[in-house]
Amino acid sequence: GQTKVQMSAFDKGHSINYQRIEDNLQVVRSRLNRPLTLSEKIVYGHLDNPHEADIRPGASYLKLRPDRVACQDATAQMALLQFMSAGLPTVAVPTTVHCDHLIEAQVGGAKDLARANDINKEVYDFLATATAKYGIGFWKPGSGIIHQIILENYAFPGGLMIGTDSHTPNAGGLGMVAVGVGGADAVDVMADIPWELKCPKRIGVHLTGKISGWTTPKDVILKVAGILTVKGGTGAIIEYFGEGVTSLSCTGMATICNMGAEIGATTSVFPYNERMGQYLDATNRTPIRQYAESFAHNLRPDQNAEYDQVIEINLSELEPHINGPYTPDLATPLSKFAQAVKDNNWPDKLSVGLIGSCTNSSYEDMSRAASIADEAASHGLKAQSGFIVTPGSEQIRATIERDGQMQSLEKAGGVVLANACGPCIGQWDRKDVPKGTKNSIITSYNRNFTGRNDANTATHAFVASPDLVTAMVFGGSLTFNPMKDSLKGADGQEFKFSDPSGKELPPRGYDPGENTYQAPPQDRAAVNVAVDPKSDRLQLLEPFKPWDGKDPQGLPVLIKAKGKCTTDHSLIGAINEANGEANKVQNVFTGEWNTVPETAKEYRDKHHTGWVVIGDENYGEGSSREHAALEPRFLGGTAVITRSFARIHETNLKKQGMLPLTFKNPQDYEKVRPDDKVDLIGIKDLKEGSDVTLRVHHKDGKSEDIPLQHTFNAGQITWHRAGSALNHMAKSKQ
Ligand code: F3S
Repeated sequence: GQTKVQMSAFDKGHSINYQRIEDNLQVVRSRLNRPLTLSEKIVYGHLDNPHEADIRPGASYLKLRPDRVACQDATAQMALLQFMSAGLPTVAVPTTVHCDHLIEAQVGGAKDLARANDINKEVYDFLATATAKYGIGFWKPGSGIIHQIILENYAFPGGLMIGTDSHTPNAGGLGMVAVGVGGADAVDVMADIPWELKCPKRIGVHLTGKISGWTTPKDVILKVAGILTVKGGTGAIIEYFGEGVTSLSCTGMATICNMGAEIGATTSVFPYNERMGQYLDATNRTPIRQYAESFAHNLRPDQNAEYDQVIEINLSELEPHINGPYTPDLATPLSKFAQAVKDNNWPDKLSVGLIGSCTNSSYEDMSRAASIADEAASHGLKAQSGFIVTPGSEQIRATIERDGQMQSLEKAGGVVLANACGPCIGQWDRKDVPKGTKNSIITSYNRNFTGRNDANTATHAFVASPDLVTAMVFGGSLTFNPMKDSLKGADGQEFKFSDPSGKELPPRGYDPGENTYQAPPQDRAAVNVAVDPKSDRLQLLEPFKPWDGKDPQGLPVLIKAKGKCTTDHSLIGAINEANGEANKVQNVFTGEWNTVPETAKEYRDKHHTGWVVIGDENYGEGSSREHAALEPRFLGGTAVITRSFARIHETNLKKQGMLPLTFKNPQDYEKVRPDDKVDLIGIKDLKEGSDVTLRVHHKDGKSEDIPLQHTFNAGQITWHRAGSALNHMAKSKQ
């Protein structure tokens, strides 16, 4: 039968499409003939073309159709400007924008928010009007952190989502495959272009036993990070399974998935279970729970599914961990931490403890922290260190205010900040310690790279559960171990903390708090997108010009790059063969030496010509950011000719309307000189598998022809013809 379950309360007319997963998997199973893991089911269940997709984990690339897109305010600006340049009337899949990254923490909640509204007015006005115009849900400043709002409202088991923020995997706590991407990937999906992902490898984490006492879900990921290190998850989806899973709350599973980003994982995901069901009920999504239950066979791994690697963790034996400083994979069990502080000469005095953020802001987290604060208060104690609380969403803030946890935290000396990223992303006007002073802080966040929180490179930042952070704030030192050490109460009596306790879900239901959501209006034609022409933060983008129908002629070589080069930041890191230097090239028309981007602009604006880049092996490696392809196109580039390409960058160049071409004989790279001008013959007749000739005109008047090849397919050729994939999409929708 046809079941229609709406994807979220805000997405009228968009229902969850489990049937597509079912249909896709039927095709994929008959092709692969082996049991599938959970992430394989969800990912392959969203294939654009299950019949023809090349499915080889860790090797091939998949074209996928995500269910939805989420953007945070820092990355949404460029994404929306790009989307607008296509001239499409509306986004192809449900999309939301969240204002959370631009709010600086100074004195706390309301005042900080008011200041942010003032400072960022032009950005917020732009986002509010652009989202309204194109049918995007808009979460205003003060609504909360993107990942918390996604979990509360939008994530659903078996879904596929992309988000323009690294901790998008948080939604894996509700069984969704949610991947952090760059802005241009989001633009593709918003414009109905399939999204390309390297077929993920599968790392299984087998959880046995039961979590209890001071050990929290956070400690699972702190432990996994210690095992896999910051690179160990690269290219893989981390899948949790085993009987230990059901001892974790849904929001706890989200914490684990969130911080999986710290080990480079594509994302992390949990199988559907009753804890997710309870969370769906508590957040008013019972129809989704029922639908997921009826579809549970595809929301868990097949029997005997095979993983590329399996990690075993017994939750009954798992200790609380503290990770850091300076890197999230330096994991130390609590029982060994005090000694590690001494051995490494880390500053023992704890200056500030910070709880909350997108990683650890659940009702459960706040209740457990409050239980610790209450116990300390009952002994007359106040926080010995600074104590900062960042609620993840307006709903969490309002609920803990109503239920009293906020008062407990404030009574203990806690300062409650606006519902936003704040100190987690360095939006922290920290006053207690001058820059350059060595000091220690401990957070319940996910990242602790040098200077991330307070821009002070001498700050030693540690990451732990909110329980440990809160307890240590009362101990005032890093060497305090609440499981073992006692504290002296105001009455002079020694006491030891009891095990933290807290409610997983609010017994009286969530309080939604203030309404901070702006739905796109019915009549969107009347909406004008607000871009101040004087703005130095925002600038409307012109669509790239379509191809002029001719074979390009007389193009200068902007740079002949030698050896490995990352193409991020407009090629400024590439080594010029002509002089062995980075970011210094000669204008072939004027003979002047200038930076790469300036010279490209001169070609574009003064000489009205395109240009080519000559590159070496594996060109564009590590440049998965779409910007790496967008920038050369913006600067007027026509073609990039190399010995070979990194695959993602090659595709990105095609999407932007550039011509990635390779030497048929790699040694021909040597024949091109940095001061040549070149023609490209065969672009007019570009077809799948066709040949292209590079005719180089040397400065000495001699010319030679060099055979090239390309990997364009018919669809990608239409991108080149239209000027970009986005232009093509816009044209085909007219
Ligand atoms: Fe924001 Fe920090 Fe999360 S920056 S999205 S709270 S990782």
